[in-house]
Amino acid sequence: MEVRITASAPGKLMLFGEHAVVYGYPCIVTAVDKRMRASVGFNGKGKIAVSAPEVGLNEYQKKISSLGKDRIPKPVRFIEVLVKNFKNNFGLGGGLDIVTECDFSADYGFGSSAAVTVSLAYGLAKLHRLKTTKKELFEICYKTVIDVQGVGSGFDIAAAIYGGTLYYIKGGKKIEPLSLDKRLSISVGYTGVKADTPTLVRQVAEQYHHNKKEVSEIFIKIGEIVDKVREGVSVGDIRKFGKLMNENQILLHKLGVSSRELDKIIKTALESGAWGAKLSGAGGGDCMLTLGDKKDKDKIEEAIEGAGGKVLEVGLGAEGVRIE
Ligand code: MEV
Repeated sequence: MEVRITASAPGKLMLFGEHAVVYGYPCIVTAVDKRMRASVGFNGKGKIAVSAPEVGLNEYQKKISSLGKDRIPKPVRFIEVLVKNFKNNFGLGGGLDIVTECDFSADYGFGSSAAVTVSLAYGLAKLHRLKTTKKELFEICYKTVIDVQGVGSGFDIAAAIYGGTLYYIKGGKKIEPLSLDKRLSISVGYTGVKADTPTLVRQVAEQYHHNKKEVSEIFIKIGEIVDKVREGVSVGDIRKFGKLMNENQILLHKLGVSSRELDKIIKTALESGAWGAKLSGAGGGDCMLTLGDKKDKDKIEEAIEGAGGKVLEVGLGAEGVRIE
């Protein structure tokens, strides 16, 4: 009987600490209830055959012996490099048929690359009947991210594996679950602009090298905000959470990673009564988050749409990687 395994992993939203996390400061990330699924089985053909219909990829093929060599088309980079790393670490039982499917658009910045890497790694481990730990899964997936894009803290990989809401330090030095106050009413607005994370991370790196003192001070302040949130989440001062979002946004603005679209939506959300608002992720576009009183949710979301944003209905603190 043909064995196929389907695993799924959640997307993520960065709540606090983006960019500074790349320099070793902590961040807070939450997994969202929109998932990526990877289905995998042996094909007996000595090659991988990958279909990812949502990104227009149909039956991309590569010999197992050539994995990671020659040009790799963008939509299949994380998949091919992950299979290569998996083979080097654990061995591979043969050629693979891989099909991926996603609940969300790759444009939102929900971390589709991390989620596909994690769901496939978990599916491969199960297919090979391996008892990999979460930490082993993290290591192989984080290596894949670094191999493919050269930069990244790995926070998105941690969210996809562990799920929930995490206090996280680069490279998985700390992965600590936090429980978010259930009364937090957070809305998510998509700017309509797709941002390129590695480009923004390199832009910040350039600034850092030219102006180490000033940029380091910004990172230190962002790290302090993250630690205040970590201490406060269980205490439940929701308004303070909003204030800390605003402080984080001012610092991200200073780093130059906000954008006209983000600024407009954030300003309008605050004017409509939100307690706090900030960009989420690399900046330059993608999504923003806003926090307000539950009773004002509709008003705040109308303001987001009025300012050109698209409200995305997402639940936070979703379950990590699992078999479907
Ligand atoms: C991107 O979503 C978040 C950054 O901090 C990059 C990273 O942590 O890998 C900008």
